[in-house]
Amino acid sequence: MGENIRMAFIGVGDMGSHHAMGFDLIPGCEVSYICDFDDRNVQRTLKELKNSQPIICTDYREIVSNPDIDAVVVSVPNYLHREVAVPFLQAGKHVFLEKPVAPNVEDCDAILAAAEQSGKILQIGLVYRYSNLYRRMAREIQGGRLADVQMMWCKEFRDPFPPVDWFYDATKSGGALVEKNCHHFDIFNWMMNAKPVRVFASGGQHLIRHGHSRVITNSYTHYPAKEIEHSSIVDHAWVIVDYENGSKANLGLCMYLQPRNLMEEGLEFGLIGSNGAQMQAKRDKTISIYGGEDYTKEEINVDVRSDSLAGGHTGGQTQRAEFIACIRSGRSPVASGSVGRDALLVALAAEKSIREERYVYINEMG
Ligand SMILES: NC(=O)c1ccc[n+]([C@@H]2O[C@H](COP(=O)([O-])OP(=O)(O)OC[C@H]3O[C@@H](n4cnc5c(N)ncnc54)[C@H](O)[C@@H]3O)[C@@H](O)[C@H]2O)c1
Repeated sequence: MGENIRMAFIGVGDMGSHHAMGFDLIPGCEVSYICDFDDRNVQRTLKELKNSQPIICTDYREIVSNPDIDAVVVSVPNYLHREVAVPFLQAGKHVFLEKPVAPNVEDCDAILAAAEQSGKILQIGLVYRYSNLYRRMAREIQGGRLADVQMMWCKEFRDPFPPVDWFYDATKSGGALVEKNCHHFDIFNWMMNAKPVRVFASGGQHLIRHGHSRVITNSYTHYPAKEIEHSSIVDHAWVIVDYENGSKANLGLCMYLQPRNLMEEGLEFGLIGSNGAQMQAKRDKTISIYGGEDYTKEEINVDVRSDSLAGGHTGGQTQRAEFIACIRSGRSPVASGSVGRDALLVALAAEKSIREERYVYINEMG
């Protein structure tokens, strides 16, 4: 590896383009290759690059063994994660792989095994692990502000996924709770600081229904509105996760708000501690802490800008900088393969619980 880390970007749709823009801004990084057969997505991405002039290709297999590539960012649809990530790991490249690790346990474990064998860095795009806001929440918990966390919730009430077919096919995305809420299940796992034991979920299709054509719009994508007729994913769910220490978490998902979530709280996380204190995060922007040992109320306005350059969720740019730091130092990433696997297991258990209408134990999942 020379002084610069030379990077290839496989898939530059909504997410991969943010990554190319973000890594392009990091000193010592070169966006050397972009691989995507959607030329419009490639051209959109190229327009945003300030420092790099990448070589373009349409088949990732052509560059797997290219000695001019040190690291790869994989942002293809979930069902292709294994197919793309494993050969690059086997070829000795560091891999930044978008979440969820994969749409099923088998693919996930094949990716983790390839990373283990290669000894290279595998970092999963669980971006909130790098966000100033959620890191501050974790510090408040570690500092004892809530004593022990007993209850936690997340309200993810939002507009539909982008109108791109693979999101709506559970065999390709893993389902809505896998595709979207692996982020939130990961935050539960992190803040609860305990192992999840079992999951109970109820969900279904209220409005985005299989066999009922519906025009889908999404507030953050660059893809135009489109009719989606076939969907095998839920458009709403309530999920309860029980942890080994008796604490409990609850997630609500709604995927059909129009035009998007306009309520003041936006994405909301809440926690209640054994000392009676409450903590809430709203809109990925603010933290409030109330009560506990005394009646103090704190409103914390965290810096949510410096960690989030170049788009995507809060923490997006810090996760990129830390991937580069891990490559240079050899240390393991915070959002490791096993952190990604733990979040995936909860999500897959929730999907299974909905299908089978019962508690699903995490140790059933593999
Ligand atoms: N971390 C986050 O917050 C976040 C947000 C959105 C998406 N994602 C993840 O990023 C990944 C991509 O999602 P997206 O929203 O960008 O999807 P997308 O459909 O917008 O983009 C996927 C891109 O991959 C390309 N592609 C497909 N097969 C390919 C192949 N074999 N070789 C090269 N390119 C190929 C497509 O042409 C497209 O440009 C998914 O895993 C998704 O879960 C993560």
